[in-house]
Amino acid sequence: MLRITEPEYILMKQYIEEHCGIHLEKDKEYLIESRLSDLAHFHGCLSFQEFHFKARTDRSGKLRDQIVDAMTTNETSWFRDKSLWEYLEEMEVPKLLNRAQETGVVRIWSAAASTGQEPYSLLMLLNDAAHARRNPALLDRIEILATDISTTALATATAGCYDAIAMNRGLSDEKRARYFTQAEGIWRFDENLKNRVRFKRFNLQNPFIFPQSFDLILCRYVSIYFAESFKRSLFTKLGSVLRPGGVLILGATESLREYSDRFDISYYKSAVINMRKGE
Ligand SMILES: C[S@@+](CC[C@H](N)C(=O)[O-])C[C@H]1O[C@@H](n2cnc3c(N)ncnc32)[C@H](O)[C@@H]1O
Repeated sequence: MLRITEPEYILMKQYIEEHCGIHLEKDKEYLIESRLSDLAHFHGCLSFQEFHFKARTDRSGKLRDQIVDAMTTNETSWFRDKSLWEYLEEMEVPKLLNRAQETGVVRIWSAAASTGQEPYSLLMLLNDAAHARRNPALLDRIEILATDISTTALATATAGCYDAIAMNRGLSDEKRARYFTQAEGIWRFDENLKNRVRFKRFNLQNPFIFPQSFDLILCRYVSIYFAESFKRSLFTKLGSVLRPGGVLILGATESLREYSDRFDISYYKSAVINMRKGE
């Protein structure tokens, strides 16, 4: 493994924060060493100083994307956090379907979708509920955008193909049987449903320019990696693209309370619901 010196750590830490917002504390040298050594070797670099220089002078953006990919943590699972998904199933999904029926279109954004489990979990709930209403066509009125900065995570998400380990994390046997087909140890998410999610690469550091506001945003387990100032601007931007009355869901260990006063905060069991004020 390539060892990193103190000045090199400062350079790499700045580079990473600049390109994806991930903020590394003082003692995280091992993270860079363990995640970037192979890449540095692959690019023929004998030190992190050399690697940093290569990254800064790479005009193609390819090396930057590889570094961001290696530094992001794509940890996810199906229906992550039980009480949140109970809230979504019992409260939010019926509300979204009513709205789809009344206004003709509902917009949802999974803003750090990783390998796709989050948007697909939601889609399964929406599909079940639309069928229970004997109105599956309601799904045509629901737009789901799923974004992430990691190209490798997005490739898995777009393919909708999962191995046994991923499948064993949070998915019931019943949902697995209904929504997936299996061949040679790989489970493939229902093709027709899969195409209802639009996956796109998007860096949360970018300006949020969307033609219409969202009814529901899931931005889960990503702000934990960001510095205070970025969290503040992220929650402000999320508030600005959520319609009044729309809901923002964060990870169970995340809170926007200190950063934004644009939301009414309520609880459903242990899940925290952030509703955009102003309706
Ligand atoms: C720990 S995963 C969370 C996945 C999912 N939301 C969940 O809760 O299971 C965090 C994701 O955030 C993405 N991410 C990190 N920094 C990002 C940024 N600046 N813009 C967009 N996505 C980012 C990572 O690539 C990763 O897939």
